[in-house]
Amino acid sequence: MARRVRNRQLAAKIVDAEEAAGLIGTGDNVGMSGFTGAGYPKEVPGALAKRVAAAHAEGRPMKVGLWTGASTAPELDGALAEVEGIDLRLPYQSDPVTREKINSGRMDYTDIHLSHVAQRVWQGVFGDLDVAVVEVSGITEDGRLIPSSSVGNNKTWLERADRVILEVNSWQSEHLEGMHDIYYGTALPPRREPIPITHPADRIGVPHLECPADKVIAVVETESPDRNTVFTPPDETSGRIAGHVLDFLDLEVRSGRLPRNLLPLQSGVGNVANAVLAGLQAGPFDGLTAYTEVIQDGMLQLIESGKLRMASATAFSLSPAAVDRFNRDAAAYRDKIVLRPQEISNHPEVVRRLGCLAMNGIVEADIYGNINSTHLMGSRIQNGIGGSGDFARNAYVSIFVTPSVAKGGAVSSIVPMVSHVDHTEHDVDVIVTEQGLADLRGLSPRRRAELIIERCAHPDFRPALRDYHDRAMESSFGRHTPHLLGEALSWHQRYLDEGTMRPA
Ligand code: COA
Repeated sequence: MARRVRNRQLAAKIVDAEEAAGLIGTGDNVGMSGFTGAGYPKEVPGALAKRVAAAHAEGRPMKVGLWTGASTAPELDGALAEVEGIDLRLPYQSDPVTREKINSGRMDYTDIHLSHVAQRVWQGVFGDLDVAVVEVSGITEDGRLIPSSSVGNNKTWLERADRVILEVNSWQSEHLEGMHDIYYGTALPPRREPIPITHPADRIGVPHLECPADKVIAVVETESPDRNTVFTPPDETSGRIAGHVLDFLDLEVRSGRLPRNLLPLQSGVGNVANAVLAGLQAGPFDGLTAYTEVIQDGMLQLIESGKLRMASATAFSLSPAAVDRFNRDAAAYRDKIVLRPQEISNHPEVVRRLGCLAMNGIVEADIYGNINSTHLMGSRIQNGIGGSGDFARNAYVSIFVTPSVAKGGAVSSIVPMVSHVDHTEHDVDVIVTEQGLADLRGLSPRRRAELIIERCAHPDFRPALRDYHDRAMESSFGRHTPHLLGEALSWHQRYLDEGTMRPA
């Protein structure tokens, strides 16, 4: 373990997690590392949760503001949410306990584009950052920090926080060193410089994070694994979705709109998005690249098979089996993977310049192509927008994928009007379900509706959607985007009242 903290000044600050957590005060804003279950601190959050529980038991309310890269794991989000120790949480989360606290109104949550977080923190809109708790995989002799399995907002946390607690995790592979590219050239406007990335493999920064040693108030050692969600294996539905996406990409290549090795891929979170990557494994495309947010199982497999030449991301999101494989042979991936701060991995300027092909999962789409990625029945948050907006608006082609039905067939993923809007019709090029694919580019709202209903909706819901659209065409206030306002959200209300969107 001592080998991982090679700087003597910082080695002298090693304490246990309880002592470190004791340095966090009530009302503090705390920036923690962590992105999709990778690279989050494993020890201090649990110790902090114990302090919070003890404070509550003594009638002293204790809460902190919790800022991360994105979702974390039960040891962080779950532990602190369980004891109601979080005041405001941001940005993306996917923890069931956190979700329950937010949806029951017991925790505040602000869901912002992942590329915006660093800028907003520099602007100071969330207040001061009091403490950073950041996992690293080691500390060099001269005090530079070797990042771990995610970068997220760590650079910003270390720069902005008054006090820093480091968790040095020796479970993380030593071969992560050299895989990261930390860019220190971002600034607030005016006269911001261009981000000089013209290919996903470009390295524009340095491999280590920097932090003045005198800001570090504690160093905690751990050897605990990342805890990522296991993906459900691709099934017939996700396999068919993947098939439609591959056919579309093939057609784009044949019509000369995409090169044979495509353009840099971005693939979102969720089981369906992972299944599309599995589909690419068997597809005809080689020499692929990725400029994306997370490297999930499907992407690692594409690297292993040689289909994917390299991937740029901000974090891993690997199942335990895939993590084992990666950690056994991490050195072999060093020239194939670049991990960057999320303000760079998701940077709109770079996504637009590279011409990324964005593929993201959704909750529901409406017949005109507006997308809801975050809310169930318009009011219950599921996870958050994550980076889907960073990519969707700026992608060369923006593809959204979903099964055509949810909740055992009681819910149609294609509805007359979405119950919450994350991506407007202007940011949505292609919608895919297992039923088929609707290429919406260049179409008017009415033509989009015809295509989405006929190609994407489940046959059980198609007649009702056609009927809605036909009647809206007859009596809508305007015929450009025809709607029956009194009926537009009635499908969701029927589900809440009767447990199904199916007409009686
Ligand atoms: N209406 C009601 N509930 C729905 C629904 C709908 N139209 N569609 C899905 N659900 C429910 C499912 O039933 C499931 O609930 P359960 O866990 O109680 O069974 C839950 O929502 C998640 O659905 P699932 O099919 O397991 O989703 P997924 O793993 O494919 O993920 C998203 C889909 C939308 C939740 C996920 O892609 C996401 O969070 N996206 C937003 C962020 C993003 O795109 N990030 C990537 C940017 S890089």
